[in-house]
Amino acid sequence: MADIVYRGNIFYRGRIVKGTVTVENGIIKGVHGEAYSERAETVLDYSVENGFLLIPGVVDMHVHLRGLELSYKEDESSGSAAAAAGGVVLVADMPNTRPQIRSFNVLKEKIKSLKEKCIVDYLVYVGVPSRIEEADSLLSEKKVAGLKVYPEDYHSPILGECVSKSLEKRKLVVVHPEHPECLRETTVPGMRWRYRPLRAELESVAYFQEKFGNMISGIHFTHITSFETAVRARALGATVDTCPHYVLLNNSYEKEYGCYGKVNPPLRPKTIVQGLLIALRTGLIDCISSDHAPHSLEEKQRSFMNCPSGIPGLETMLPLTWTLVEKNVISVSDIVKLMCRNPSRILGLHRMGEIERGYVASMTLLKLGEEYKIKPENFYSKAKYTPFENFAVKCRIHATIVKGKIVFYDGEVIANK
Ligand code: DOR
Ligand code: ZN
Repeated sequence: MADIVYRGNIFYRGRIVKGTVTVENGIIKGVHGEAYSERAETVLDYSVENGFLLIPGVVDMHVHLRGLELSYKEDESSGSAAAAAGGVVLVADMPNTRPQIRSFNVLKEKIKSLKEKCIVDYLVYVGVPSRIEEADSLLSEKKVAGLKVYPEDYHSPILGECVSKSLEKRKLVVVHPEHPECLRETTVPGMRWRYRPLRAELESVAYFQEKFGNMISGIHFTHITSFETAVRARALGATVDTCPHYVLLNNSYEKEYGCYGKVNPPLRPKTIVQGLLIALRTGLIDCISSDHAPHSLEEKQRSFMNCPSGIPGLETMLPLTWTLVEKNVISVSDIVKLMCRNPSRILGLHRMGEIERGYVASMTLLKLGEEYKIKPENFYSKAKYTPFENFAVKCRIHATIVKGKIVFYDGEVIANK
């Protein structure tokens, strides 16, 4: 007897088919025809209902679950509940916590909280440490996805060694693509794109090219905002992701929403956004990530100059990206590639990103077609605001299955931790 039997539409081998998926011990036991029958503990029968689609689980390679001393913004329980509600089965968590994850002791503590509280699968990045001796132990940890390089690390005397070590250990190097020498600030909402210009992104790619050569596979430029960045990074063999807010918003939203539209890199003018859309449509973008960056409401209500940057995104990433399918900018197959298959491949996740026999049974069940509006008051995240408030979307997450366990179903997070 299987643990779960799902019946209905499945994204399988590049197209949508009607069929049956069986799950046992956290693994996809088989993908069968519609008529296949097997007894199971849980039967999810969507064979006669319209609009449901089972896709491989969404993998978000850039989130901030915070925790430790920043738990007032978000912690591993609330952040991973947001992930489950957003259809995300695995998160890769960023190290700019307080204290930052740049030493083995802090890493141990962070992994302990993730283990205790995170209800989806997880990995964590580490920051560049102050001593090279620390890099080895940080990067040897199994749950470490790789190294995250922030603007303040570009000139670290051990950056080169840390990057090489990470690549040697077949871990990813994720770069925040803003060269520190190109960054200034402004008090005027709507204008940050001039103070943290596109040039900062291009200089970031140029810097890594100069330091590490013309073939930098294993380096990933995250939350890029332009066509040009995608072309230049990809030409070097690097990979790239962008986020829904860079594709669907522009600097006029920063002007209108102030702090809620404040994010690094900043929202760009329309012409740059149009270029980014072309990059997405033509396959120059490898992945979509959320860069879920929660802050407290009090922090986001400060003056524009004094509020921290960041937009919460785990619960909106998939519905928002789906609006591009509705507008025929990308296809369902692109969604699976951008949000499931490619992030799994880039993170080196074994047997993830496809619905296939023998693969990890982490999957996302969507309900498509019914329009609803994004309501941040319903977020599981502690950050109950978004520039996308009242945005109309037509993709609802119906269920999230992580390694054969249902962690979200019909509006409810099921935390069996
Ligand atoms: O806007 C941002 N917020 N960009 C980042 O790179 C960091 C993030 C955060 O941690 O809040
Ligand atoms: Zn981030």
